[in-house]
Amino acid sequence: MSHIDLTTPIELLRPARVVFGAGTAAESGRWVRERGFTRILVVADAFNAARVDRLGLEGDVTVFADIKPEPDVPNLEALLAVAERIEPQVVIGFGGGSAMDLAKLAAVLPGSGQTIRDVVGPEKVAGKRAALVQVPTTAGTGSEVGTRALVTDPATMSKLAVQSVHMLADVAVVDPDLTLSVPAAVTAATGVDALAHCVEAYTNRKAHPLIDLYALEGIRLVGRFLPRAIADGSDREARAGLSLASFYGGICLGPVIPPPAMPSPIRWAPATTSRMAPPTR
Ligand SMILES: NC(=O)c1ccc[n+]([C@@H]2O[C@H](COP(=O)([O-])OP(=O)(O)OC[C@H]3O[C@@H](n4cnc5c(N)ncnc54)[C@H](O)[C@@H]3O)[C@@H](O)[C@H]2O)c1
Repeated sequence: MSHIDLTTPIELLRPARVVFGAGTAAESGRWVRERGFTRILVVADAFNAARVDRLGLEGDVTVFADIKPEPDVPNLEALLAVAERIEPQVVIGFGGGSAMDLAKLAAVLPGSGQTIRDVVGPEKVAGKRAALVQVPTTAGTGSEVGTRALVTDPATMSKLAVQSVHMLADVAVVDPDLTLSVPAAVTAATGVDALAHCVEAYTNRKAHPLIDLYALEGIRLVGRFLPRAIADGSDREARAGLSLASFYGGICLGPVIPPPAMPSPIRWAPATTSRMAPPTR
């Protein structure tokens, strides 16, 4: 295994625009208006679909309100059928990782001639077909900053993983107030998800100094704020701390690709080997 140190090349991708802070949700609508987009597809679970007004959207807004937790291929296909019909100029993921992951696929697959099976794996997606805005409502997956989507294959119950730079959001709007309604058990589970992303990134043998900063700070934030958010779901500072930890966890999870010019570059991915303990993903 190659040794990773400060001299090792690495490339970090992030959404071009990131808005963070309590009460910022409607910035997504403002960005959509600025771009002049009027055909809008919101991808949400039932809970978030019922409060889509928080995004401040105007125009021809279609809400796909049926994203299931750990979405499967039929759930994705129902969404893609809607997207093919309305041909959105912009797709907005509004929910947890389940909604955001499927929003990514709805921004690249409809009209492309590619199916989900064609794009499983790294960088198989042909291109981006609609702008993409991500608005997380849980604090866990960090999907808003990432290039991956996970969809359950009902035949095998394993997850199909798609990774593509074309699925990177144009804008991520992280409004921690949107997470105030997350029940304690989901707060705990999603907080541990963010922690796991950070711990994996830091303990991985391929850990890179560029990422260590995010990993360590994400771990610190979860340690400080997860007990508070579980004890009192209305603690806005704790919710904001976890939203930030989740965002950092998303950076840790790997919108990081080797520079194209590298002859045998490092490929950043969640740990398959660890310098401390085997990961248990
Ligand atoms: N893309 C990535 O890098 C990445 C990383 C980790 C996990 N994932 C995927 O993300 C999915 C899990 O995402 P998740 O953990 O965010 O859960 P989720 O999106 O499935 O949501 C969990 C539940 O919480 C509800 N919910 C969401 N926001 C809420 C809110 N603000 N208030 C009340 N209820 C709310 C949802 O309706 C749902 O029932 C899985 O499919 C997993 O494979 C993706």
